[in-house]
Amino acid sequence: MKGIILAGGTGSRLGPMTAAISKQLLPVGDKPMIFYPLSVLMLSGIREVLIISLPRDVPLFRQLLGDGSQFGIHLDYAEQPHPNGLAEAFLIGEEHIGDDSVALVLGDNVFHGPGFQRVLEKHSTAVKGCVLFGYRVSDPERYGVGELDDTGRLLSLEEKPARPRSDLAVTGLYFYDNDVVDIARRVRPSARGELEITDVNRAYLERGLAKMVDLGRGFAWLDTGTPEALLEASQYVRTLEQRQDVGIACLEEVALRMGFIDTEACLAAGRRYGNSRYGRYVMEIARELRD
Ligand code: TTP
Repeated sequence: MKGIILAGGTGSRLGPMTAAISKQLLPVGDKPMIFYPLSVLMLSGIREVLIISLPRDVPLFRQLLGDGSQFGIHLDYAEQPHPNGLAEAFLIGEEHIGDDSVALVLGDNVFHGPGFQRVLEKHSTAVKGCVLFGYRVSDPERYGVGELDDTGRLLSLEEKPARPRSDLAVTGLYFYDNDVVDIARRVRPSARGELEITDVNRAYLERGLAKMVDLGRGFAWLDTGTPEALLEASQYVRTLEQRQDVGIACLEEVALRMGFIDTEACLAAGRRYGNSRYGRYVMEIARELRD
């Protein structure tokens, strides 16, 4: 399976923080926001990832993450000059996807919770159709909303419905089989001029090939789109990290635990971050797993 991180957009709700830099490079806790979605793809076992962003920001992402070899993965970059919608990712990423299945994750989505890696592993193998990840929220009218029957089958998908049929929001992580490229090609721009991901998902739903996994209670899917949400996400991450001395979205740790790099490479990567908590944590983990 290939991975795509969509990290463009205007980030207008975070102005003026996003006047000169992409939202997905702003910090959440002690690391750039894009570390979180990249960790999700790596935890899914994906080692080839395309990062899509504005022409202005692609060089910065490249400076931050390079070719990915320090994580034992391969990173490529592509430009999306205008926020033409999430489904454009499959057109921009067509060559990257090739004849493989693909996971799309939004560059500003933070996921964290027990058993997440197992869920990712289970649903990323042999994808047939699409797999969406649902999260129960108190304000579903702000999101794409999915309705499941008693057996967990997806019955309907609605975009920001005034009267939602359920409280299950569609999160920014999507797994697709290779048909997604053809389906995205046939999607027409919506009233707001965007290629909507909901239209892609509906095409799968009509074929009876759309599945939605409920991420369940006790799971965190955090918003980072407004200054308040960004601060709350940072506080959540720091509270867990400091209380339990664990790393959330520490890419070197994920790479080491996934077997993408060895302990020596992990140590070397930790040194790169100097005397920061992040750097010390990476080195600590490397030593712990080596000894
Ligand atoms: P949004 O939160 O809808 O938009 P935004 O990030 O531009 O923020 P704002 O509403 O404050 O202006 O986008 C969700 C994510 O998807 C975010 O990471 C940006 C990204 N995105 C793209 O990369 N390309 C697009 O065409 C769109 C619509 C979003």
